[in-house]
Amino acid sequence: MAQAFWFILPAYVANGVPLILGGGTPVDFGKKLSDGNRILGDGKTIRGSITGLLAGVSFGIFQVFLISHPEFPAKVVTPRWGLKIVLLLVLGALFGDLAASFLKRRMGLQRGHSVLVVDQLDFIVGSLILASVVWLPPLRIIIVIVVATPIIHLIGNFLAYEIGLKTEPY
Ligand code: CTP
Ligand code: MG
Repeated sequence: MAQAFWFILPAYVANGVPLILGGGTPVDFGKKLSDGNRILGDGKTIRGSITGLLAGVSFGIFQVFLISHPEFPAKVVTPRWGLKIVLLLVLGALFGDLAASFLKRRMGLQRGHSVLVVDQLDFIVGSLILASVVWLPPLRIIIVIVVATPIIHLIGNFLAYEIGLKTEPY
């Protein structure tokens, strides 16, 4: 359990911070494709992507420092932890989220329209794919992540809605 969360935390940070610090100019600059729909939509902003990247990488580096503390329990740490895997996890999370928005727009779905499973796991799939270049977690860790993330995601979004960060509770 602890190993699964250690591994995926930078992706969580990269996915959660844009909710708080995002806004402003959209990544697609408002452009539409020939299908008449936005490339990504107003929910994907430059500020959100950059703050998500910086926050996710900072958190991952903080984890690197934690390892060096003699009292830190070594069994929590996943193999090959370092800047490279952190970067891959964070970039994977951001691209996974952008890819899901791209696909949602191609299906004609408006920004914020919920697609269960896709909305909750898009960033996880991106993270796992990119991180696998360095290290792919064993199946039991992937299962914990895939089962726990939608629950955490839905609780997190409900709280974000309650405090006014989000316009939909999911
Ligand atoms: N956000 C952002 N930049 C990003 C990702 C997210 O600014 N790269 C912010 C936006 O304010 C967005 C919120 O975080 O509304 C929640 O993200 P998400 O649920 O992924 O976006 P949606 O608004 O639901 O849009 P979509 O339908 O494209 O998923
Ligand atoms: Mg959404």
